[in-house]
Amino acid sequence: QSPCGPIIHGLEDVLIKSTSISDIDGEKGILWYRGYRIEELARLSTYEEVSYLILYGRLPTKRELEDYINRMKKYRELHPATVEVIRNLAKAHPMFALEAAVAAEGAYDEDNQKLIEALSVGRYKAEEKELAYRIAEKLVAKMPTIVAYHYRFSRGLEVVRPRDDLGHAANFLYMMFGREPDPLASRGIDLYLILHADHEVPASTFAAHVVASTLSDLYSSVAAAIAALKGPLHGGANEMAVRNYLEIGTPAKAKEIVEAATKPGGPKLMGVGHRVYKAYDPRAKIFKEFSRDYVAKFGDPQNLFAIASAIEQEVLSHPYFQQRKLYPNVDFWSGIAFYYMGIPYEYFTPIFAMSRVVGWVAHVLEYWENNRIFRPRACYIGPHDLQYIPLEQR
Ligand code: SDX
Repeated sequence: QSPCGPIIHGLEDVLIKSTSISDIDGEKGILWYRGYRIEELARLSTYEEVSYLILYGRLPTKRELEDYINRMKKYRELHPATVEVIRNLAKAHPMFALEAAVAAEGAYDEDNQKLIEALSVGRYKAEEKELAYRIAEKLVAKMPTIVAYHYRFSRGLEVVRPRDDLGHAANFLYMMFGREPDPLASRGIDLYLILHADHEVPASTFAAHVVASTLSDLYSSVAAAIAALKGPLHGGANEMAVRNYLEIGTPAKAKEIVEAATKPGGPKLMGVGHRVYKAYDPRAKIFKEFSRDYVAKFGDPQNLFAIASAIEQEVLSHPYFQQRKLYPNVDFWSGIAFYYMGIPYEYFTPIFAMSRVVGWVAHVLEYWENNRIFRPRACYIGPHDLQYIPLEQR
């Protein structure tokens, strides 16, 4: 409450627009993309097809999907200046490089210049929309290249160019490690990308909307979203969760770790709790099953799956978490298989961004259909009309 009226802290439950891209039933733990349940898409689809669905609002025909995949393969390459930006940030956390590289790509993309000029005079008709969708496809296609190139430069390795005969997920692993990936690993990346493609308007998607609402541009909206996703309370939780499991080291310590998180001001358990889900995150359920299969095939040498399972058990039976309806979320399980694939944990959130980029651009294009600049208010509680005292008298 404030003198001006109710403050909605963290914009909890504030509606900023209507959308038909994704819907979440937080009470029941259900997620839909364009009306399809996530379980069905996870089982039957691919990220190529799901990203088309999210962008264009319907499942593609065979021909539409082939054309889309061919366009994406053409867009995978980066502008030479962008490669230099990534090389210069090789020692920085990959989320900083991702943010800078997306901005650089946007700075050099002629399509983007054309769109910026059109938007600046308020023109957003069929021709501009076509430009915007092309830019959206470019962003989806380029993210894996940026992430993989950074990984190579950070290890002092030369880049591995994209291969046209590999799908989106397999090609990413190929560009990372320079060898054809194990099919189960490619399936894991593809599944992860499907599960994270959109999620209504979390902080990162909201950030994309704010930048787009000023008619800045699509690349800048995605750069802003990446900046928001980097935070440990949002996308960075999967990196923190695996670091915690590695530090805990044994399932026997799960009880004390969970207990510590219930103390006021105690360290929040990464990968637990959610603003919308007051039930088990359906994405976490699906990726937990994949992780179980992955460690069944390749082993669990650092006990990560066992430690996460022990922590989950404690959380699901502890009154503190039950009272607050806190359950594992997608970040709780998403890092274990990645870690065993040899993906360093600082690359987990960049992979989250590689997926969510299609949600960010789809939401911006949807918002631009009925754009209005975001300009909330704040309630001023300071003094007014103070008299200025000259410095020598202070
Ligand atoms: C993602 O929004 C999205 O959709 C995001 C996402 C997506 O797909 O884009 O789903 C991806 O970001 C998943 C969430 C990843 N983050 C984490 O796992 C970080 C740990 N989680 C918490 O920081 C927290 O649960 C949030 C940030 C996820 C949600 O924060 P809220 O809704 O603002 O909840 P809150 O801080 O008001 O917590 C309510 C209560 C508090 O206790 P009390 O003050 O009532 O006593 O629950 C407690 C919190 O202290 N609590 C936790 C906790 N999460 C909340 N206590 C211990 N451990 C936790 N993880």
